[in-house]
Amino acid sequence: MCIACETQLNPEDLNAFGERFLNIMNSANLAMMMSIGYRTGLFEVLREIGPSTSAELAKKANLNERYVREWLGAVTTGGIVECDDTGSVFTLPAAHAAMLTDADGQNVAYLTQFIAVLGAVEDRVVECFRKGGGVPYSAYPRFHEVMATDSHRNVVEALEDRILPLMPEMTERLERGIEVLDVGCGQGRALLELARLFPNSQFTGFDLCPEPVAWARAEAVKRGLSNVTFEIRDLTTFHEDAPPAAFDWITAFDAIHDQARPDHLLAGIRRALKPDGLFLMQDVGASSNIADNRNHHLGPLIYTVSCMHCMTVSLSQGGLGVGTAWGEQMTREFLFNAGFSDVDRHQLEHDIMNYYYVVKP
Ligand SMILES: C[S@@+](CC[C@H](N)C(=O)[O-])C[C@H]1O[C@@H](n2cnc3c(N)ncnc32)[C@H](O)[C@@H]1O
Repeated sequence: MCIACETQLNPEDLNAFGERFLNIMNSANLAMMMSIGYRTGLFEVLREIGPSTSAELAKKANLNERYVREWLGAVTTGGIVECDDTGSVFTLPAAHAAMLTDADGQNVAYLTQFIAVLGAVEDRVVECFRKGGGVPYSAYPRFHEVMATDSHRNVVEALEDRILPLMPEMTERLERGIEVLDVGCGQGRALLELARLFPNSQFTGFDLCPEPVAWARAEAVKRGLSNVTFEIRDLTTFHEDAPPAAFDWITAFDAIHDQARPDHLLAGIRRALKPDGLFLMQDVGASSNIADNRNHHLGPLIYTVSCMHCMTVSLSQGGLGVGTAWGEQMTREFLFNAGFSDVDRHQLEHDIMNYYYVVKP
């Protein structure tokens, strides 16, 4: 019996939820250890040297043995690493190595870093729950670095074979030479790759934050690219200050929903596109209705990232805070209000998080 709600409790329901709760706690803690395994190179070294003791692993990875042994305890009891019956020789199973190291090109371990990045601002988010407001980008340690790894996996590696083919003739136009803008470019990984692939075209990246823009500029110099420039620019007023009919192709990779004013930015994009231009928008795939997202394979992840970051950085700029799960219906409404009526939505197999909207003026 639940004394507070005077409802007869079913012991089976209690047990099932108790088990679920334990799973939640174990998985959340394990995710932090996996992030450390990724950052310290422990997964890579364990795959490389095969069955090994904590001392062998620590030596090869150039890390402190005591910490490595404790890490092995977490990832072994969590079913990520296996050990022998003496508890002293550890192995990374092949299927786990395929997804947690760079060996097979499908390393997803980097994603676990987001847990600590978001956890770092918990105090400030709790304060926002009480008082409203938001948390600025500058408060998030390593956000742009981790985001750029995600961009590399989902966008850069898929540009030529999966993303460009969504827009017939775009590759030919890029080869001939066109003007391209990427809004909310972050570290500019996509633009740097496009600039390398298409030397006849000119590429421009705008982003609010100085730190990723500085990284992108330095990287362009390092790679000897003279056809790409990066600018620190607040796009909140882009509806008023976008250069008219200046670009043939505008891209936004995971960068519309967390803007202060997605409506202003989309109107500016419409204004900045040439009449035969195209807008490509990669944004989170969801419904605008929570009820439709109840069985979404990434539901809790999307709403948590929103609450801890995307909605919150937008609100910190006095923005709309539409949230990560603003969803397809709201996306289409915003596009329509910005003057876009020709919208094709695609899903790509390699990217389980996003939709790709190909939009014409
Ligand atoms: C989720 S990140 C995506 C970055 C990049 N496109 C990528 O895929 O790695 C969103 C980006 O939008 C930028 N941003 C947020 N608000 C902005 C604003 N008001 N003006 C310009 N850029 C903004 C952030 O600095 C951040 O780099």
